[in-house]
Amino acid sequence: MPEQNIFQPDSKLSRSSYISSIQQYEELYKLSIDHPEKFWNNVVKQFHWETPHADSKSFMSYNFDISKGPISIKWMEGASTNICYNLLDRNIKNGHGDKIAFYWEGNHPEDYTRFTYRKLLEEVCRFANVLKMHGVNKGDRVAIYMPMIMETPIAMLACSRIGAIHSIVFAGFSSDSLAERMKDCKAKVLITSDGAWRGEKLLHLKQICDHALEKAQELGHHVETCIVVKHIHRVTAPKPELIEDFSVEMRDDRDFWWNDEMEEAEPSCYPEWTSAEDPLFMLYTSGSTGKPKGVLHTTGGYLLYSSTTFKLVFDYKPGDVYWCTADIGWITGHTYVVYGPLANAATSVMFEGTPFYPDNDRFWQVIDKYKVTQFYTAPTAIRSLMTFGDEPALKHNLDSLKILGSVGEPINPEAWLWYYKIIGKEKCSIVDTFWQTETGGHVITPLPGCTPMKPGSASFPFFGVKPMLLDEGGKEIQGEGEGYLVFSQPWPGMMRTVYNDHKRFEQTYFSKFPGYYCTGDGAKRDKDGYLWITGRIDDMLNVSGHLMSTAEVEAVLTEHSRVSEAAVVSRPHPVKGECLYCFITPNQNEPFDKQLIDELKVLVRERIGPFAQPDAIQHAPGLPKTRSGKIMRRILRKVAVNDRDVGDISTLADENIVEILFNNRPSK
Ligand code: WT7
Repeated sequence: MPEQNIFQPDSKLSRSSYISSIQQYEELYKLSIDHPEKFWNNVVKQFHWETPHADSKSFMSYNFDISKGPISIKWMEGASTNICYNLLDRNIKNGHGDKIAFYWEGNHPEDYTRFTYRKLLEEVCRFANVLKMHGVNKGDRVAIYMPMIMETPIAMLACSRIGAIHSIVFAGFSSDSLAERMKDCKAKVLITSDGAWRGEKLLHLKQICDHALEKAQELGHHVETCIVVKHIHRVTAPKPELIEDFSVEMRDDRDFWWNDEMEEAEPSCYPEWTSAEDPLFMLYTSGSTGKPKGVLHTTGGYLLYSSTTFKLVFDYKPGDVYWCTADIGWITGHTYVVYGPLANAATSVMFEGTPFYPDNDRFWQVIDKYKVTQFYTAPTAIRSLMTFGDEPALKHNLDSLKILGSVGEPINPEAWLWYYKIIGKEKCSIVDTFWQTETGGHVITPLPGCTPMKPGSASFPFFGVKPMLLDEGGKEIQGEGEGYLVFSQPWPGMMRTVYNDHKRFEQTYFSKFPGYYCTGDGAKRDKDGYLWITGRIDDMLNVSGHLMSTAEVEAVLTEHSRVSEAAVVSRPHPVKGECLYCFITPNQNEPFDKQLIDELKVLVRERIGPFAQPDAIQHAPGLPKTRSGKIMRRILRKVAVNDRDVGDISTLADENIVEILFNNRPSK
């Protein structure tokens, strides 16, 4: 990368930021790696511990080497606390009771409200009591399938107040996906809403839940209670005609309205003290094989890590208004809409809608409305907004912005520059944050006002994180080079296990390179030591920031009675980053027609969710297989982009198939 592609942080920002120079970063970084206890103890002190951890030996212990015994990661073992108490009661005790925790901005611009810390605590306590009334105890799992409304963080924090484990399923997943996840974690209760508006679309969430509850029952798991928030009649309907025949079925023995339950509940609830290593929540993420994994996060370490990354990566100062556009159904929403900001007594915007409703300047309008100082979104959103040109953004002032964040996938330099110039007016630091559901918080990221920025590079590790690049043989690549991105020691916020499947945890993340946590991503290091994430190296793909595996989509496609075989690869997409390109071999004598294509699209939407719908489905009379029967995906990826430079195909059982596949490409 030539020097002119380095952007120095704005000097005004540097003067005021917590970490204001690379030298300061390097010193602190060294401390965090060599003496984790010294580094984290300053953070520990900010929070309330009902029982402090016993001694420095118990501060952190781990085993990353499967040959030496089971993988284990422990921070502050023996200490006890309550994360909800730290996020709410502690802040109120420190004088922030009347501070705004959330400005809630609804789908419709006329729907908005605000919640102070005090009000939030009261609602959380009420709902904690509701959960208790329904028999939810410490360690029980509570499934949450909700839109971006205030009841969502309230439900999460109510769980953590009583030591229950929340398991949020993004409300874009299908009823099958929800059922499978509720069964896997044996959820006792499901919390949802009647419906939700996304732009002009009305989503029937309760209906999806009804199907999911039935399906879970068929799979052998009974969810006892479903609590339903009445939402859509409270808000302005973009299309009133759609509510006319909107109805919600409530089953007497199972379904309860949120409001009815809350009316009877006390507004105070003593927190349940939980051990630092007690589970806080689980969140499912796709695996490259088999069913989704319930990534488990625990209490103490996650509190330290979510709060510290939030404070330093967004350089959050009292008076700032922070806005993360991620849905709470993803890890970004957990750590950077709820836990991280509240741990810092921050004021945030929480947004229910989409960037395109009522117009495609909604993001910029909301930034001006609340004078947002830190804005955090995904490259796919930036790219889709860029397609409307600069004018929608230039209509707004955007002066309040100081820091712009990006997350979910690599950000291409073109989108980075647009974000930097048109939105940030060349004075904001851009933080391109690399992390995963598994890492709990940012692990590789620039720091605002500190790190000179290179568009497209996530740059350097966060405190406590030790990245390495390994070659295929597991040898470390020093200096410039490219390899597997791994981490050699734990940081407080990393996952502890796959729920109910520790073997799978060890297998997935620790078996390829003993002694290292393996991210599944590739990365390169340039001559200045900057890290550039190059993308997944397993059979995973990232569609608009949604991670999924080719295997799970293939499994759905082959469910269709007319399909004999299916292979899925990723194709680059200008807005979504990547999209799904599917090859279908129909059964003998079955036609490949439009009806089949349409049915397959519907099947994927139903089984996984609308975001997984394939962009292209092509006929494959056969698949390019080696003599041992392994599909050569490399060739399929070439067909998907119509690049005939396929390289060596001599190991294929039938070389002719390559030409046939190119000729069968759909016309558009
Ligand atoms: C995968 C994790 C972390 C929250 C959202 C996604 C990709 C994420 C970046 C980035 C390049 C990125 C990786 C990673 N990814 N952020 N800044 N630059 N790639 O969480 O669903 O667990 O996905 O997203 O491939 O492994 P997730």
